Amino acid sequence: NKKKDLAGKTFVVTTGGTREPLDPVRFIGNRSSGKMGYAMAAAARDRGAMVKLISTVELPETAGMEVTRVQTAAEMLASVKNAVKGADALIMAAAVADFRPSAVANEKIKKTSAALDLKLEPTTDILAEIRGKFVRIGFAAETSELIDNAERKLDAKNLDIIVANDVTAPGCGFGSDTNKVTLIFRDGHMEDLPLMSKREVADAILDKTMPLLAPRRSG
Ligand code: PMT
Repeated sequence: NKKKDLAGKTFVVTTGGTREPLDPVRFIGNRSSGKMGYAMAAAARDRGAMVKLISTVELPETAGMEVTRVQTAAEMLASVKNAVKGADALIMAAAVADFRPSAVANEKIKKTSAALDLKLEPTTDILAEIRGKFVRIGFAAETSELIDNAERKLDAKNLDIIVANDVTAPGCGFGSDTNKVTLIFRDGHMEDLPLMSKREVADAILDKTMPLLAPRRSG
């Protein structure tokens, strides 16, 4: 087993899909189960890191992690902002809504025979918004042009590593216990990882994160 090579480090990890309410009983969500981010958090914990996990979903075994439950992109943004103070790394495995309903109805929206138009407004991009001297890792779930789209996100969000996920491939992405990803680094080089368990993917990402961590951090 791994040694405690992340002892003394603080990792902030987000996981799950955000839920953007439409009315008191409905939301706009996505298919993220939280498994990938949970595997990241568990791997970092088992390697000795102090882990702050911000999750939209209930997770199996979170002993030794500080867990904050959130629902919306706005709540996740607020929690991340707070959690990254003094952190060494931020890993955003969560599938965060890019849009939310412009208005949330106070009462359950009633069924009528007419079409219903929903107006959506953009959410804040958490990774683009959050600044600080910590390693920044994002994920990109794509259905086409995997590498080009992921590279665009790496640049736009000023990341150290983006984990590119072809969610159309079998055993990959949403809900599965396995994943197959390509790591793209800030300097442009790439590494293809084979299909493996999300926990193995997480450990491989942490192996690549290790050398990027600041040797010593004050404050
Ligand atoms: O949860 P599982 O079922 O295990 O599935 C795992 C996963 C497929 C959800 C995960 O591996 C993954 O790929 N997560 C990212 C999903 C995604 O599509 O992200 P994105 O391309 O919308 O965003 C890119 C990055 O920016 C992500 O790190 C995201 O967390 C972040 N982001 C996105 C929107 C936003 N408003 N703020 C953000 O910070």
